[in-house]
Amino acid sequence: MGFLSSLFKKKAPAPARPAPPPTLAWKVTTVTKETPSTISFEVDGTMDFKAGQFVLLRPTAAMPWRAYSFSRAPGNALRLTVKKVKDGQVSTHLTEKLAPGDVLEVKGPYGHFILPATFTRALFIAGGSGITPFLSILQEQEKKGWPSPICLLDFNRTGVEQILKAELDALVASSGGKLEVIHLLDDAAAAPKGPPSKDVFGALLASQQQPDVVGMCGPEPMMDMARAATLARFPGVPILEEKFTMSHDEGGSGAVVTVELVQGGKSQPFPVKDGEHVLAAARKAGLNLSAGCEMGACGVCRVKVLSGEIHIPDDACLSDGEKADGYALVCVGTVKGACRIEPAP
Ligand SMILES: Cc1cc2nc3c(=O)[nH]c(=O)nc-3n(C[C@H](O)[C@H](O)[C@H](O)COP(=O)(O)OP(=O)(O)OC[C@H]3O[C@@H](n4cnc5c(N)ncnc54)[C@H](O)[C@@H]3O)c2cc1C
Ligand code: FES
Repeated sequence: MGFLSSLFKKKAPAPARPAPPPTLAWKVTTVTKETPSTISFEVDGTMDFKAGQFVLLRPTAAMPWRAYSFSRAPGNALRLTVKKVKDGQVSTHLTEKLAPGDVLEVKGPYGHFILPATFTRALFIAGGSGITPFLSILQEQEKKGWPSPICLLDFNRTGVEQILKAELDALVASSGGKLEVIHLLDDAAAAPKGPPSKDVFGALLASQQQPDVVGMCGPEPMMDMARAATLARFPGVPILEEKFTMSHDEGGSGAVVTVELVQGGKSQPFPVKDGEHVLAAARKAGLNLSAGCEMGACGVCRVKVLSGEIHIPDDACLSDGEKADGYALVCVGTVKGACRIEPAP
């Protein structure tokens, strides 16, 4: 009986994601230059978000969507902080042209870079503009009265490029010793200093006490080093990660396989090269698939894999349950063989 009932028991479907948030129009109220390459701006919009989350925004419909984290805790005027990336389309526009009165298209909130409700000791590692979600998270801890000790390693190339340092200093002062911030500049005269490397992380982490949560945010190469060094020093410690750099489309130099997009009762096959992101290949074939961050961070491009397999990076934002139920993300997903997909509800 038990065997039969388990045989016929229906597998619970993966939890449906909430409906995609509507596109909002946020009017910019203030723009503040933080460093030669970084601005913060406030908007007159509202959003119910958790500290550490981000929005997708675009300055005009002709520009691509990009992800930007809130740099303030919930409950205050909404603020985002953007660093110019060399030759970057959206960050250049925002840091050089944004002005009060401009209206931005915005969707969100997104993201899982959220601290557990309770922890006993946290270690944070930020690189450059990767400080933004930590400001939101740290301000939230301040509101809660600094329940647990936190150490933040804040890497920047130069002192001139340190983002919102005065706010970090004020948080340290308010924390009564609960928050320690170690500033690491590449051009510092003496250690502790950057740039991030295996040795630098090894020395810094050697003096850290065991945390029960580690958060890291910044460019991919720094994150790779930070993760390896953290796990070597604190094996098995839970790590929250937010990569700020776009995952690279490998371009696909090898075999070409066929992926079939099943949508609206139609099946549309398109070629995907080995290593190429499925979303990029679909676009080349003129197919329209939903996408947001295009970095595996928001889940907007989630598809159900009906047959075959899509490989996604370990740190993409799908839960283990969603992966087990055959969901994948096409923005960072690659294929080795033919497969059939349909957009997820
Ligand atoms: C979840 C998430 C949250 C983010 N939050 C913030 C934030 O709060 N503040 C912020 O300034 N940025 C943030 N970013 C990065 C941001 O989304 C954009 O990637 C960045 O502004 C570059 O976009 P762009 O259109 O200017 O550059 P693109 O035109 O997309 O890129 C131009 C070139 O720069 C490279 N590149 C792209 N992004 C980076 C980068 N971050 N560092 C170095 N090289 C890069 C690209 O590979 C490309 O060669 C976040 C990213 C993610 C995924
Ligand atoms: S577009 Fe955001 S996860 Fe794919």
